Amino acid sequence: MKKTTLLGGMTPAIFLRDYWQKKPLLVRQAIPGFAPLMPTAELFALAARDDVASRIVSRTARRWDLQHGPFPAMPSGSAGRRDWTLLVQGVNLHHAGADDLLRRFRFISDSRLDDLMISYAADGGGVGPHVDSYDVFLLQAQGQRRWRISAQDDLTLVDGLPLKVLKHFTPEQEYVLEPGDMLYLPPQYAHEGTALGECMTYSIGFRAPAYQELGEAFLQFMADSIDLPGRYADPGLKPTGQPAQLDTAMLAQVAQALQKVRFTDDDIAIFLGEYLSEPQAGVFFMPPARKQSAAAFSAAAARRGIVLDLKTKMLYRGRHVFINGESFAVERADRSVLAALANARGLAASEATGISDDVREALHLWYCDGWLKLA
Ligand code: SIN
Ligand code: CO
Repeated sequence: MKKTTLLGGMTPAIFLRDYWQKKPLLVRQAIPGFAPLMPTAELFALAARDDVASRIVSRTARRWDLQHGPFPAMPSGSAGRRDWTLLVQGVNLHHAGADDLLRRFRFISDSRLDDLMISYAADGGGVGPHVDSYDVFLLQAQGQRRWRISAQDDLTLVDGLPLKVLKHFTPEQEYVLEPGDMLYLPPQYAHEGTALGECMTYSIGFRAPAYQELGEAFLQFMADSIDLPGRYADPGLKPTGQPAQLDTAMLAQVAQALQKVRFTDDDIAIFLGEYLSEPQAGVFFMPPARKQSAAAFSAAAARRGIVLDLKTKMLYRGRHVFINGESFAVERADRSVLAALANARGLAASEATGISDDVREALHLWYCDGWLKLA
């Protein structure tokens, strides 16, 4: 891949080798002449919606306060004068421009790419010194923000606050970001952003699931597919003098039966694909107002092409296709067209012609669910 201003004139390969998950990178004018994707009024309107996750963090001299949206109105009066920040999560799910911006980072797989969060801060606003468990690119969109960062190991938090604020923050570097500037931070890297005047910052975040979270979800997934025939039996039962004691023979027999629970790499692939393509809680799809029949839809798709909905998450691996938490086993001949759909997040008219009945049927089903639409 080519060198890009987005990474300070580096190729994605060099960036990933030297910085990703390792150390911060400040890129001046990562996006030269960057203009905000939306005015603040539009961001505030998103924060008023109940299908959009938003928070307001505010601070007085002695107190941090955290509130969860939706917010019909922004702080005003004396509350509006103090330091406050509005954080709106998943803007890419609702705004095509935000989705485009997120996808400029697609040299990293969709399995890692999470969302675009936009923060708006009044002068002096910030969420305090903290660490995130995510990799994040902090792109300055409007106004100025001062970032102070530290490689410190002491991640002790201040007790009793509604948000995670580091108790001992010892900044090592300080940068003031102008619109178009961007700061990459690996997970667990201490940072504190402070608005110098009103400002907006876009966070492009990459999720990394905790193994505990993955393990719990995997066991739940396996519970649905487990197949253990037979039932405990004890034709050779002997009388017991300690009726309350768990029987040794029973324990051995059950242990042997449960050791038969096995999982294959294919189980793991299906689990992971479903897990990573699962829409977040609170994400809803809008089915088309007037659904076209399968035949009419296919004819229109072959004329106009199709695009995935902004909220759709689609992945694939081998014969498995994953879309919005569901998996499908796909015939060999159909794999390339579905891979093209997932990679390009759409199919051109020419690609939507001459597809198999199975794919046609799946596309119509996904169209009816609001997962994709005609281009
Ligand atoms: C912000 O944009 O105010 C917070 C982003 C972050 O520190 O992760
Ligand atoms: Co952060």
